[in-house]
Amino acid sequence: MFKIEDDYPDLKMDDEAVIATNDDASECKRGAVLLGYWQDNYIPYFIKHNQRRAPEINRGYYARVKGVEKIIHKFLSKAGSNAQIINLGSGFDTLYWRLKDQEIKLCNFVEIDFPAVTSRKCYLIKRNKQLLQRIHEKDQEVKLSPTDIHAGPYHCIGVDLRNISELENKLHQAEVNFSYPTLFIAECVLVYIENDCVNRLLSWIATKFPKCLFIVYEMCNMNDTFGNVMLENMRARGCNLAGISSCKNLETQQARFQCNNWLGSKAWDMVSVYYSLPTSERQRIEKLEFLDEQELLIQLFQHYCVCLGWTTPEFADCDFE
Ligand SMILES: C[S@@+](CC[C@H](N)C(=O)[O-])C[C@H]1O[C@@H](n2cnc3c(N)ncnc32)[C@H](O)[C@@H]1O
Repeated sequence: MFKIEDDYPDLKMDDEAVIATNDDASECKRGAVLLGYWQDNYIPYFIKHNQRRAPEINRGYYARVKGVEKIIHKFLSKAGSNAQIINLGSGFDTLYWRLKDQEIKLCNFVEIDFPAVTSRKCYLIKRNKQLLQRIHEKDQEVKLSPTDIHAGPYHCIGVDLRNISELENKLHQAEVNFSYPTLFIAECVLVYIENDCVNRLLSWIATKFPKCLFIVYEMCNMNDTFGNVMLENMRARGCNLAGISSCKNLETQQARFQCNNWLGSKAWDMVSVYYSLPTSERQRIEKLEFLDEQELLIQLFQHYCVCLGWTTPEFADCDFE
């Protein structure tokens, strides 16, 4: 049985609880994939368990995965062959492998998480032929350490996002080109980080990456009763939610970019994101599990959002409209 504290004695209790959220997200994704919500041949290699979740949760994950994918494809169609993706707090996300199956070529793809998470990811990749084969590019050397992988355009690196100088160091090691079009993704990550650290991170990215788009998927409208229940549930699991004040509403999500020198930002709740997805796909997934009433689903969608920030006008229309 894996125990984080044995290998990473410096980790704080709060960080441990945050790291555990990756297992929960991965289990939810695995469960929804097994029910047919979307296709992901790789998630079962990263997580072996899945608990059956309520249909509302599965639909929520479907809207999140497909909504984020929609923006990724818009970005890629504009960015061209120099496109880079940097997934912050990536956990066991399988995006690289899914894009690879679609024969989408990227100049660089970087996954970042705490070393305690990337070490598990690196170990699982090393042990699994299906995962390893797809990161192993012809004629490219695969460099492995206990917490990092560098394999052609694919990089998995262990670093605390609150440590900007180490992050910059590691991005250099991953051969990130700061002037190339770059998409940052942070799904349910910034809420766990103290506001001043998120502000420093966002300002640093805005200064360093003149051509970039940032996708945040996170909670919003947390000031009502439903939001309070969500917060109580998360706190009961030991998560501190140090960045929750930016999740008050769509405006606070957007303001985070505006205050940190981004050119523009916009946010949509998941009701809008869900209804922007193709009708035929929505009809397909709505038949997968029976929902006797929609009220809880709509409330859930109203409490999560996608917020985009951009540093160049080129990416201002990568949206849901
Ligand atoms: C809820 S999980 C989400 C994982 C993935 N983004 C997804 O959507 O499935 C949050 C992730 O953020 C990572 N994380 C949170 N704070 C971090 C920090 N300061 N530095 C690096 N990773 C962090 C956690 O370790 C965890 O893997």
